[in-house]
Amino acid sequence: MLKIGNVQLATNLLLAPIAGYCDLAFRLVARRQGGVGLACTDLLSPQGLLRGTASSLDLARTNAEDKPVGMQLYGGIPEIMAEGATWAAEHGATIVDINMGCPVDKVTKKDGGSKLLCIPDTTIQIVRQCVRALEPYNIPLTCKMRLGWFNDQPIAENLAPRLIDEGITAVTIHGRTTEQKFMGIVNLDGISRVVDAVGRHCKASGHNVPVIGNGDVREAPDALAMMQRTGCAGVMIGRGALSTPWLFRDCWEVINGRQCPPEPTTAEKLAIVRQYMAFMLEFRDERYCMYQIRRRISWFGKRLGTETDARGRPLGCRPLKEAVRAAMTPGDVYSALDRFEAGGLRGGGVELAESAEA
Ligand SMILES: Cc1cc2nc3c(=O)[nH]c(=O)nc-3n(C[C@H](O)[C@H](O)[C@H](O)COP(=O)(O)O)c2cc1C
Repeated sequence: MLKIGNVQLATNLLLAPIAGYCDLAFRLVARRQGGVGLACTDLLSPQGLLRGTASSLDLARTNAEDKPVGMQLYGGIPEIMAEGATWAAEHGATIVDINMGCPVDKVTKKDGGSKLLCIPDTTIQIVRQCVRALEPYNIPLTCKMRLGWFNDQPIAENLAPRLIDEGITAVTIHGRTTEQKFMGIVNLDGISRVVDAVGRHCKASGHNVPVIGNGDVREAPDALAMMQRTGCAGVMIGRGALSTPWLFRDCWEVINGRQCPPEPTTAEKLAIVRQYMAFMLEFRDERYCMYQIRRRISWFGKRLGTETDARGRPLGCRPLKEAVRAAMTPGDVYSALDRFEAGGLRGGGVELAESAEA
């Protein structure tokens, strides 16, 4: 079973940070479907947390049900990252994670995210100071990185062992480079090389640090294939969970050699959307709830309207998505969901079958 430092996880499946998506409401939705061993906040600015900026505090919000939870920090200044780690420890983090994978200019220009792959001395200082800051709280420090910056220059397999010597307790590896951003398919061989390098290092040094693979897990067999191909100890899932919050439950069954459970019924899927709305209204407000649901319905919609017509084509749910995008109030959204549940708002099946992304 996956253990990160002193934290024993119930499964080896992790919900990824996805900036703007994996807020408290969504983390709870995913957890309630089962199979989530650890969920992580979206990337947090330590400066924002320390200043008490409302948007940072909203992103860092957690509660008793949202456990165990990783809080992910980004930045390039060791002292500030360490202060951010202390803040996280004092505000409900089970684990603190350092973002070493974000490819966005705004983050990398300030030496954060995947820029840390290119400035190992700073990265080591960050890890060293964060580990020291977390020691009194007995909270493990982890990192999430990409394979490297340029496609032809692997970095993670060399950097990860050095970070382990500084006290990192788990390494999540997204099998892409910064140059790739989110293009192409995940490089399982690249993940495998990091698993091997960390494994060799742990054997020689006596550490016990799991590597968690990440990238392109959309269906339960993908998680099993990633573990079998790379030898990773756990799997982190991001975008797949946005359309399929029950994916962790499915993956957990399949990686344990059991049958994939039946897909939730339409009524159950709609209950998930309603639950997500209710959580957003509880933890945030109507404005936020409407903003999120209008863009998130495309993701949920990938798994709605999957019933097929006489010729075996999915019926689709384009009218439902349009109704939700046009909704002015949560009441409008609930009534669109009700109409869909009653058999209406179907259509656009071909588009659904062909669309690759929300
Ligand atoms: C819109 C978006 C936002 C993301 N935000 C974060 C983030 O805040 N922190 C992080 O470590 N990774 C972030 N990621 C990367 C994901 O955690 C994950 O590594 C990547 O999407 C590949 O996994 P997946 O194919 O399961 O989604 C983000 C990805 C996307 C698409």
